[in-house]
Amino acid sequence: METKLIKIRPDCPEFDREEEDGLRRAGDVIRRGGLVAFPTETVYGLGGDALNPRSSRRIYQAKGRPSDNPLIIHICRLEDLYGIVSRVPEAALKIAGMFWPGPLTMILPKAPGVPPETTGGLDTVAVRFPSHPVARKLIEYSGGYVAAPSANLSGKPSPTLARYVVEDMAGRIDMIVDGGEVGIGLESTILDLTVEPPRILRPGYVTQEMLDSVLGRTDIDATIIDPDSRQIPKAPGMKYRHYAPAGRMVIVEGEPGQVAAYINRQAEADRKAGEKTGIIGTTETLELYCADVVKCVGSRENQADIARRLFAVLREFDDEKVTSIYSESFSGRGLGQAIMNRLLKAAGNRLVKL
Ligand code: TXA
Ligand code: MG
Repeated sequence: METKLIKIRPDCPEFDREEEDGLRRAGDVIRRGGLVAFPTETVYGLGGDALNPRSSRRIYQAKGRPSDNPLIIHICRLEDLYGIVSRVPEAALKIAGMFWPGPLTMILPKAPGVPPETTGGLDTVAVRFPSHPVARKLIEYSGGYVAAPSANLSGKPSPTLARYVVEDMAGRIDMIVDGGEVGIGLESTILDLTVEPPRILRPGYVTQEMLDSVLGRTDIDATIIDPDSRQIPKAPGMKYRHYAPAGRMVIVEGEPGQVAAYINRQAEADRKAGEKTGIIGTTETLELYCADVVKCVGSRENQADIARRLFAVLREFDDEKVTSIYSESFSGRGLGQAIMNRLLKAAGNRLVKL
């Protein structure tokens, strides 16, 4: 299959005629059952018609993703929520008022019209109203309901640049909309509103502190904060090894000087054993490290920077064929909770505490 590529200028308040036409054509592709990858404020998504079971099946196929892992339905108007959800609790409207459009997904009871192929057979549905102007326009032209997982091959880091979508999806889908680099870089926060108190199933840019300030109290899925938890995560997707680079990754926690000494020692031993070694450091610690490839993920002073760079850094290690990767760890507070969650998954939960 030939994959068409169209470009939209990033950070441009208005679409020009050609961009508008391109997005209209992309919407038609989705309406006819095709697949289009597009930018959102979190990561690139792989969109199909959420109400067409064949589209959802095609999404699973293109990603190589197990079909018990449900998809998020993206909308572009708050009122469209009522078309796919059977009951909208008060708390959902409060959350929507504060965080929509934006990087937050709500789990709600599913309306009968939503095909089981889209929800992995569950009786709940995940809904997100993204803020990215390209995403919103495309959803509108697609008929209002776009199922979209992250646009990576299953198991790989989510794409934050169109280049990585091309790498994973060229030849597998109908079209890719290149809208430049995404702003946030980690997938949306997922909040389950079918339980009391509401529970965070995946941490993201909207933090637990922010949700608590609106709802009073939220729980967090135990599997997110405790890597050794034996429970099965409630978001089916969170049980898979995910976000992972091809190399074997280990996270090291402790006092910065000790961490650097430990990582350098391990990397040196790995290098002698024939591995190509990589290290993820920060502006503050970069010069302490020595390996084949040392990458800076951002400054410890700026968590949003680290979130935006993380998946690209993991992909760059793949590009450079690094086989053994070490990373510093980050504080589990605020946005740091989402950063650590993705790092731990990328590392298959290999964490060394010094
Ligand atoms: O930021 C995002 O959310 C991106 C962009 C493209 O919008 N999308 C995304 O989709 O990350 P995906 O498919 O990669 O992750 C969706 C997660 C999976 O872990 C899935 O198991 C969970 O949402 N999920 C979907 N529906 C659910 C449901 N009804 N109950 C519990 N978890 C659900
Ligand atoms: Mg994903």
